[in-house]
Amino acid sequence: MSDSYLDSLPAGFVWGTATAAYQIEGAVAEDGRAPSIWDTFSHTPGKVDNGDTGDVACDHYHRWREDIALMRRLGVDAYRFSIAWPRVVPGGDGPVNKAGLDFYDRLTDALLEAGITPYPTLYHWDLPQALQDRGGWPARETAEHFAAYAAVVAERLGDRIQHWTTLNEPLCSAWIGHLEGRMAPGLTDVTAAVRASFHLHLGHGLAVQAIRAAVPDARVGIVNNLTHCEPASEREADRAAARRSDGHTNRWWLDPLHGRGYPQDMVDLYGTEPPSRTGDLETIAAPLDWLGLNYYFRNVVADDPAGPVPYAQQASVPGARRTAMGWEVHAEGLVKTLRRMTEDYGARCLYVTENGSAYPDTVGPDGQVHDPERVRYLEEHLAACARAVSEGVPLAGYFAWSLLDNFEWAYGYDKRFGLVHVDYATQRRTVKTSGRRYASLVRAHRARSL
Ligand code: IFM
Repeated sequence: MSDSYLDSLPAGFVWGTATAAYQIEGAVAEDGRAPSIWDTFSHTPGKVDNGDTGDVACDHYHRWREDIALMRRLGVDAYRFSIAWPRVVPGGDGPVNKAGLDFYDRLTDALLEAGITPYPTLYHWDLPQALQDRGGWPARETAEHFAAYAAVVAERLGDRIQHWTTLNEPLCSAWIGHLEGRMAPGLTDVTAAVRASFHLHLGHGLAVQAIRAAVPDARVGIVNNLTHCEPASEREADRAAARRSDGHTNRWWLDPLHGRGYPQDMVDLYGTEPPSRTGDLETIAAPLDWLGLNYYFRNVVADDPAGPVPYAQQASVPGARRTAMGWEVHAEGLVKTLRRMTEDYGARCLYVTENGSAYPDTVGPDGQVHDPERVRYLEEHLAACARAVSEGVPLAGYFAWSLLDNFEWAYGYDKRFGLVHVDYATQRRTVKTSGRRYASLVRAHRARSL
């Protein structure tokens, strides 16, 4: 594929890679870290493929210098990582663990020294287990504790970090964790799920206030996994399913952030009201500096009256290319989602904060990892970003998921998303062909922007 689409991306476009704490750090019992809901979940038999856990993961807690050196090899401008709440405030509230905070302090300094801008996320699913034991996200206090933890981190790192993310993919925490039960904490209760979604939003809004109070020039955003939903057929039942799927996946997560409250059709469908108090919706809708989009696939949906809420199931798409996750490769859905955020929600600054693909990579006899499908996925989605920009979407950057192969939640280590291969037995890192391709695109764009 020719690189000419790079011309459409603006000068100063941010090129990054992304990871998350529990997926790469390991060292789960070191330096005062306490268990999170993911430690509990992954250690519960039957919850994660192969019985995998994040106990060691990519051992990034000890190998972070090597991982920063890898980012330098890729030539990226920015690194999106998450801070582990159970390292910093192990009990969820109460005493701060200095050693935990020191780790992110060292990481921040080393990134800046390497010329890489840090983009931390405060919550990427690793709720301290102590807070789960007191009710978790369905409880209002969790939102308040989250804001207090955000203040601790922002006060310590805010002199060096400008770009802050409150939450990563609250949809997964609420819907997959509390409704479908496929992620921690593993509940299947619609009332708990709606309450969790609301308190995640409230925690976000309170954390925005806390970050802004600590870091006057902060640029604060939130990261959602949204997607383009379309009906599997012209049947009215499938069209209605696509509207429900859109409400469940997109509108529920965007409307409250934009001062529109929660979509009434979805409140009716869930049959339970978010537990909002006076002033909460204003807190949730605090103005943001940017929005992050994690995009992987589109949703082609068919009516599923017997299925779980929202009674819509993924339909088979004849001829579709799929990744090892079974997700359809469909770059046009990225353009449509970015356009929607711009046209329907008036976005003024967007980042693709995650995008990537899993394939069963292996190190070949030549010592290399050849991953042509991931190269193609990457190029198609970057070309989609460029198309969106040329249509007026204010896209400011792209973060490839992921820097490293890592712990893919309930799928364990089999699903490899990295630009860099990790041999988990030796922790040896090998830059894949896709990593080299990404580096060459970053260089080419920079050269064109001079
Ligand atoms: O690995 C996850 C990440 O933690 C959140 N976004 C989707 C990725 C791939 O499933």
